[in-house]
Amino acid sequence: MAHRIGYLIGSLASDSINRTLARALVRLAPPSLELEEIPIRGLPLYNRDDELEPVEAVTEFKRAVESAEGLLFVSPEYNRSIPGALKNAIDWGSRPWGHNSFARKPSGIIGASTGAIGTAVMQSSMRSVLSFLNAPQLNAPEAYITFRPEVFGADGEVHDEGTRDFLAHYMEEYGAFVERVLSLTAPGHV
Ligand code: FNR
Repeated sequence: MAHRIGYLIGSLASDSINRTLARALVRLAPPSLELEEIPIRGLPLYNRDDELEPVEAVTEFKRAVESAEGLLFVSPEYNRSIPGALKNAIDWGSRPWGHNSFARKPSGIIGASTGAIGTAVMQSSMRSVLSFLNAPQLNAPEAYITFRPEVFGADGEVHDEGTRDFLAHYMEEYGAFVERVLSLTAPGHV
């Protein structure tokens, strides 16, 4: 049976290049993965006052993260870091203390930017955050995508063979990583 992977898009923009990248990844993923978006748009700003009685959007978000077998973060880099909307979602998911929804979720980080470094600095920040949250991460391959409109169609078609092969390889490796982590955390494994 296919593994249920939740993907989070770090941009709220309607014409987000990272949403386009996510569409390409869904198309190129191996059949062993079933990808579904975990939306972050409706979340309020994190406030510790509301942790114990959060609004339904937060409860729903945490439930979606917890029911996914793996997570894929597809995000832009904003000012050399994680976009506020994504960090806000992660903060909600990490709380209240002792109820961290991200723990032990095999995670991948990928992103597209218009600049040449292809979200490398955002990804470095994300690695620290996910380490703290005890989410195992795919270390390699790394995927820093400089977005070129002639390469990516709006529906996720990838017109350049090299890019298509690379993204398909990334998803294969991510799928294999999810398998490895899930087999280590399966009930009965010592
Ligand atoms: C950017 N952009 C950007 N790009 C980059 O490579 N490094 C960066 O630090 C930043 N910083 C940054 C801050 C803010 C507030 C914005 C709006 C943009 C450019 C960014 O790569 C470009 O806008 C992408 O289109 C953003 O991705 P989405 O929203 O289209 O998915």
